[in-house]
Amino acid sequence: MTGKEFSQLLPEIEHFINSGDERSIILNDICKLLKNKVDHYDWVGIYILDELNSRLVLESYFGKPTEHTVIPVGKGVCGQVAENKKLKIVQDVTQEGNYIACSVDVQSEIVVPILKGEKFMAEIDIDSHAASPFTTDDEAFLTSVCRMVSVLF
Ligand code: SME
Repeated sequence: MTGKEFSQLLPEIEHFINSGDERSIILNDICKLLKNKVDHYDWVGIYILDELNSRLVLESYFGKPTEHTVIPVGKGVCGQVAENKKLKIVQDVTQEGNYIACSVDVQSEIVVPILKGEKFMAEIDIDSHAASPFTTDDEAFLTSVCRMVSVLF
């Protein structure tokens, strides 16, 4: 998928955000769009920070159900991003020491923080069944998506 093809999805996402629907519906729509439109996105979810309990809670997803609906901050790739507030790509999950396996089919993962100013609010988590599929185009696209989604928080 090229940068141009990725950028063609942004107006659709903007449309969801401006729909006036409640946040969980908008986030569901975004997960579904990303999973359906990008070949190497096999599971797309959005975890929200539960600051009081220092954990992430799965708000919306599209793909197979996961048992990892609650993840402590610091644990797994998702928990690391909640702690460091930095996008993380794992091109080969077998090489990641701090990883929570969801399905044997998953080979790689990208997690992108949703920030409100400097504050970590939530994150988009994407699993792929492909090896090393993520490029700087994924990074740029998903960073834009997260910036757009941040208005909902
Ligand atoms: N693999 C993630 C856990 C969430 S699942 O991918 C849905 C992690 O290591 O944090």
